[in-house]
Amino acid sequence: MCRLLTDFFERGTMIKLANRVSNLSVAATIAMKRKANELAAKGVDVVDFGIGEPDFPTPEFIKMAADRAMAKNYTKYTNTGGIPELRNAVADKYHREYGANFDAKREVVITCGGKQALYNVMFALFDRGDEVILPNPYWVTFPEQIKLSGASMVELHTCEENGFSLSAGDVEKLITPRTKGIILNFPNNPTGAVIPKRELQKIIEMARKRDFYVIFDECYEKFVYNGSSISGAPFGKENVILVGSCSKTYSMTGWRIGWAAGPAEVIQAMENLQSQSTSNPNSIAQWAAVEALTCNQSFVQAMIDEYRRRRDVVVDGLNRVPGIKCALPEGAFYAFPNVSGCFNSSIRDSNEFINYLLEEAGVVTISGLEFGRDGYLRLSYATSMERINEGLKRVQKLFG
Ligand SMILES: Cc1ncc(COP(=O)(O)O)c(C=O)c1O
Repeated sequence: MCRLLTDFFERGTMIKLANRVSNLSVAATIAMKRKANELAAKGVDVVDFGIGEPDFPTPEFIKMAADRAMAKNYTKYTNTGGIPELRNAVADKYHREYGANFDAKREVVITCGGKQALYNVMFALFDRGDEVILPNPYWVTFPEQIKLSGASMVELHTCEENGFSLSAGDVEKLITPRTKGIILNFPNNPTGAVIPKRELQKIIEMARKRDFYVIFDECYEKFVYNGSSISGAPFGKENVILVGSCSKTYSMTGWRIGWAAGPAEVIQAMENLQSQSTSNPNSIAQWAAVEALTCNQSFVQAMIDEYRRRRDVVVDGLNRVPGIKCALPEGAFYAFPNVSGCFNSSIRDSNEFINYLLEEAGVVTISGLEFGRDGYLRLSYATSMERINEGLKRVQKLFG
């Protein structure tokens, strides 16, 4: 017995992981969720502003499409890049909404969530030695995927005064002969920023001239509160890869359906990669996604209206707290307040701030440092108005 145990521990110490995973950060949002669950299990009434996931259930008629798919035995492998019906639904969506013409067969690929589309596109395009421009603050996954691809990240610092948006001039300053791509995510996670169409157009034009790719992540595409969408779709596609997802728009995070649309060669390379890893996304979920993309979209508007109401309450509530300044986010479902005015000798950075908030008030938020920016934190307002008001009350009490 004793010998068995020593063998076990000796073997344990010999495990040598590959560098690529040893250096990988665990998604902060998931780590924070774990902490919140632990507190909740101890009986603490936790208010969770941490996770970026719609609190609405997947609409019934989308679930019913999945039921029908199972009843019809659509439960086998599909084409790696997705069923033709779903590829068509994605191409039709871009045509209907933005007048863009994508060839569904060659220029659209269906993936296991937007995250896999981003992963595949980075692996299809980037090599060691390449530089990839990434606006900061950034979604936690982007630096890790760039790192995994072997490329180097070149950060573009955006600022609160400009609503965390950016201009073509900001990008131009960072271009070198090694620039292979830029990753744009608007509406943005974590800041909620959007980019003016004119600037996006200029960046795409510049990228075409200087020979690099624009990866445009528009997973929060529909969550824009000033009414106008900022999709890159109408701006040509030779050097633009659009990434979209059913996760946020249709409250389908668990179904894992996303896509990419772009130049045929890149899309084919992504599909080849997928064929050697996950193969096709879940067949039943693909049929549910067809229903989501082709049905009457009015229920999405109801969600957007609700998020707008919540955003206004969150921003107003945060701005009432001495030391906190919160700009009005134009999209997504996140607020990114500046909390540096609350720092003191025991709360010296965003990590200490969010821990204090969790321990003293049971309020879960994500540190700005996870998104590359100290002095800030991210609150997701994809939670009920009742929980939002409760959370704000606690923050106000703690710092008021
Ligand atoms: C900016 C951004 N892009 C992409 C995704 C990927 O979403 P999914 O893989 O669920 O489609 C997320 C999810 O949180 C996100 O915040």
